[in-house]
Amino acid sequence: MLGFAVFASALIAVAALKVSWIRKRDLHILTVGILTYTTDQRFQTVHRDGSDEWTLKISSPQLRDSGTYECQVSTESKISQAFNLSVVVSKAKINGNSELYIKSGSDINLTCIVLQTPEPPSFIYWYKGDHVINYSQRGGINVVTEKQTRTSRLLISKALPADSGNYTCAPSTAESASVLVHVLNGG
Ligand SMILES: *[C@@H]1O[C@H](CO)[C@@H](O)[C@H](O)[C@H]1NC(C)=O
Ligand SMILES: *[C@@H]1O[C@H](CO)[C@@H](O)[C@H](O)[C@H]1NC(C)=O
Ligand SMILES: *[C@@H]1O[C@H](CO)[C@@H](O)[C@H](O)[C@H]1NC(C)=O
Ligand SMILES: *[C@@H]1O[C@H](CO)[C@@H](O)[C@H](O)[C@H]1NC(C)=O
Repeated sequence: MLGFAVFASALIAVAALKVSWIRKRDLHILTVGILTYTTDQRFQTVHRDGSDEWTLKISSPQLRDSGTYECQVSTESKISQAFNLSVVVSKAKINGNSELYIKSGSDINLTCIVLQTPEPPSFIYWYKGDHVINYSQRGGINVVTEKQTRTSRLLISKALPADSGNYTCAPSTAESASVLVHVLNGG
């Protein structure tokens, strides 16, 4: 999921000068001062009057926006500063195979990790099929989510065949991941 705007800031000492942002890949001038020079309106300079900061904001960043950007100040001796931007797709991963076979009476223990996320997700939901897993419907369900390590563990104790299904880990800011769980009768 690419939900966030990307910011790169340039702290420029002389506020009165014009600051431009250039995309190095094609030497495209994106912004000059607070004006956007490209038809791609996702690029914008954010600047507060009197401030020394000229921030390039890229809304709805795409993978293709990855690359080097440079801000330039128009002085006699040109001042410039390059920034490398790397746009990543955050996605969840459930440890193990995409299908899980377990015996009736044993535990379903699923660990979901959110990969390539600059910030921890604000929440991670678990679904069974289309429904958020409902703790009150069945006892023995335990979810432990650690935002800092970006992991969530779903534990369903003493699983029954009725617990079979498609389990999905859906973080707030990343693509979700699923695993098909088969609880086998008898043993
Ligand atoms: C940006 O990446 C390029 C190519 O990987 C590298 O040569 C350059 O030093 C980097 N620039 C900055 C400012 O990190
Ligand atoms: C669940 O699996 C994780 C990692 O595979 C393991 O560390 C943990 O102890 C397991 N929990 C239970 C209750 O089996
Ligand atoms: C969970 O299940 C209980 C009992 O069936 C129901 O009353 C409750 O509304 C459900 N909660 C959610 C969030 O679906
Ligand atoms: C499991 O659910 C996810 C999310 O709804 C879906 O994308 C995926 O295709 C399902 N997998 C199977 C095997 O049905």
